[in-house]
Amino acid sequence: MNMPTMRVDGKVCLVTGAGSGLGKAMAQGLAHFGADVIITEIPSKMELGQQVAQEIAGETGKKVICLPLSLPDLTSIDQLVTSAVEQMGRVDVLVNNAGVQVAKYALDVTEADWDIVLDTHLKGSFFTSQRVAREMIKQKSGRIINIASQNGVIGYYKRAAYCSAKAGMVNLTRVLAIEWAEYGINVNAIGPTFIRTPLTEPTFADPKIYNDLISRIPLGRVGEPEEMIGAVVFLASDASTLVTGHTLLVDGGWTAM
Ligand SMILES: NC(=O)c1ccc[n+]([C@@H]2O[C@H](COP(=O)([O-])OP(=O)(O)OC[C@H]3O[C@@H](n4cnc5c(N)ncnc54)[C@H](O)[C@@H]3O)[C@@H](O)[C@H]2O)c1
Repeated sequence: MNMPTMRVDGKVCLVTGAGSGLGKAMAQGLAHFGADVIITEIPSKMELGQQVAQEIAGETGKKVICLPLSLPDLTSIDQLVTSAVEQMGRVDVLVNNAGVQVAKYALDVTEADWDIVLDTHLKGSFFTSQRVAREMIKQKSGRIINIASQNGVIGYYKRAAYCSAKAGMVNLTRVLAIEWAEYGINVNAIGPTFIRTPLTEPTFADPKIYNDLISRIPLGRVGEPEEMIGAVVFLASDASTLVTGHTLLVDGGWTAM
């Protein structure tokens, strides 16, 4: 029997929005387990992105580059994937991670709030996946991993747009898994609970909300970014060849309650 490996040696992984938070940790993890990595940042944060790419390359000895991406602009997506293939030869794994948060009660959400959240997460993930899938189809293989959220399967206060976008990503994952199976592309999602990153700093700063969150997590704490690494490396590796259309909840037990 050929034992599958949890490593990703020789693969090229593209992680969007990886200058900080979960994206940075997942890029570090994928490089640590053997992949060359392309990270992206928005144009105004390219200096940070370049520093992070150098840091990961220094830690792991892998090739790591940073390219600009502004979601959901289709021209920007096309330029990213064209440059990624020119510079790295191929894209084996896409991690749709880039995202934003606008935490407001439903009655206060404006059209602009709604659009930025839905456009960045749902439209952005879909059109990045579509563009990358065109490369993966030529290669007859690929992995797409959507960073959804536990908020794609449950609701929470001040998250009308965010929960809608993440629920969309969970079901989009199923559709793409079904349609692209014939091309050897597995499409999965990860649904993290609340994790300590720049995105959640404002939420955690309010002790009432923080204590409410903790009370809903059976493991009794929020997550740390490195706790995403096991899930993303598993879904990128040959250990998960039969897994597709699935959302892997990394939620400390929140949704088990
Ligand atoms: N932190 C959490 O608790 C948590 C929980 C569940 C899911 N998530 C999801 O994980 C992902 C990463 O979040 P994070 O907490 O690491 O946040 P973060 O703010 O540290 O990182 C977000 C990244 O996305 C980039 N980005 C923002 N808008 C963009 C745009 N329009 N185009 C391209 N890039 C853009 C940012 O520059 C940054 O690099 C998001 O999709 C978020 O919804 C986070």
